[in-house]
Amino acid sequence: MSETSARDILRPELGDFFAEIVRNEEVAAYVYRMILLINDKAGTPYPAPLPGQFVNVYLNDAGRLLPRPISACDWSNERLTLVFGAVGAGTRQMAAYAEGTRLRVGAPEGCGFDTGAARGMNRAILVGGGLGAAPLLLLADALRGYGSCAVRAVLGFGSEPFLLREFEERCDEVFVATDDGSAGFHGNAADLLKELSVSGGDSLFACGPAPMLRVLSRFAGGQGIPLQVSLEERMGCGYGACLGCACTVAGAEETALRRRVCRDGPVFNGSEVIWDV
Ligand SMILES: Cc1cc2nc3c(=O)[nH]c(=O)nc-3n(C[C@H](O)[C@H](O)[C@H](O)COP(=O)(O)OP(=O)(O)OC[C@H]3O[C@@H](n4cnc5c(N)ncnc54)[C@H](O)[C@@H]3O)c2cc1C
Ligand code: FES
Repeated sequence: MSETSARDILRPELGDFFAEIVRNEEVAAYVYRMILLINDKAGTPYPAPLPGQFVNVYLNDAGRLLPRPISACDWSNERLTLVFGAVGAGTRQMAAYAEGTRLRVGAPEGCGFDTGAARGMNRAILVGGGLGAAPLLLLADALRGYGSCAVRAVLGFGSEPFLLREFEERCDEVFVATDDGSAGFHGNAADLLKELSVSGGDSLFACGPAPMLRVLSRFAGGQGIPLQVSLEERMGCGYGACLGCACTVAGAEETALRRRVCRDGPVFNGSEVIWDV
């Protein structure tokens, strides 16, 4: 593996860290949990990721220089957990890496969830669609310390749930939906949320496919409930240089503004995202 990446050349001030894969296992069909032990760099420890931040994972493949952005799912004792779908050539390579493989990873990137929004609320409701559940686990962990604020997870999957035990350990309530009805509610997470009680004392946090986030955004807007959404746009460079990840948000006086998901997000207020562009 080369010791110098394209990112080092473009952003020498940050550089990347080296990590060793200590676990890489399939937790549902085509869904993998990878645990990375991340080494200090010249005495600088890897920064603990905040909920909703993502990590750029570089492949050990000179033919694939662009990193794969993957959300931080869990963090403890210098061990970073990523949960990813093997959906394309790069993530299939990641799925095939054996334990002991060394990888280059960027420091945690982006603006994550504003956990302060849950302060003073009765309940934080985390809504995850498929792999969008991954970043919500670290969020559940952070919100657990908020005393009187209860944490409810509403998780939708295709047919095979994953991470349920971990959510049950960190949330007061966990509700499951599957598209094919094989477990829990028959439908997606947004449909299930509408079936459950929501109230003005709730704060919503969501990650998942754009159609689900769009539906949630309308629902939350209609109920007057605050919603934060984590977007997973296609990315290029992954650190703000190429504008390949732009989304559209509402600016002042009905203007529309372009925002970089990798730098300005990936988390935005649901009420400010313009979905139909
Ligand atoms: C902020 C953020 C967080 C993410 N978190 C997760 C996660 O926790 N778990 C997970 O399974 N997936 C996550 N994704 C999606 C994941 O990055 C893509 O599935 C992955 O990059 C696909 O790479 P590939 O080589 O397998 O696919 P290919 O289609 O072969 O990828 C080709 C190129 O497109 C880029 N790309 C392709 N799809 C996406 C995509 N959806 N988002 C961003 N870039 C893409 C890749 O970086 C690569 O440069 C996240 C995406 C973003 C933007
Ligand atoms: S991916 Fe290049 S600017 Fe966001």
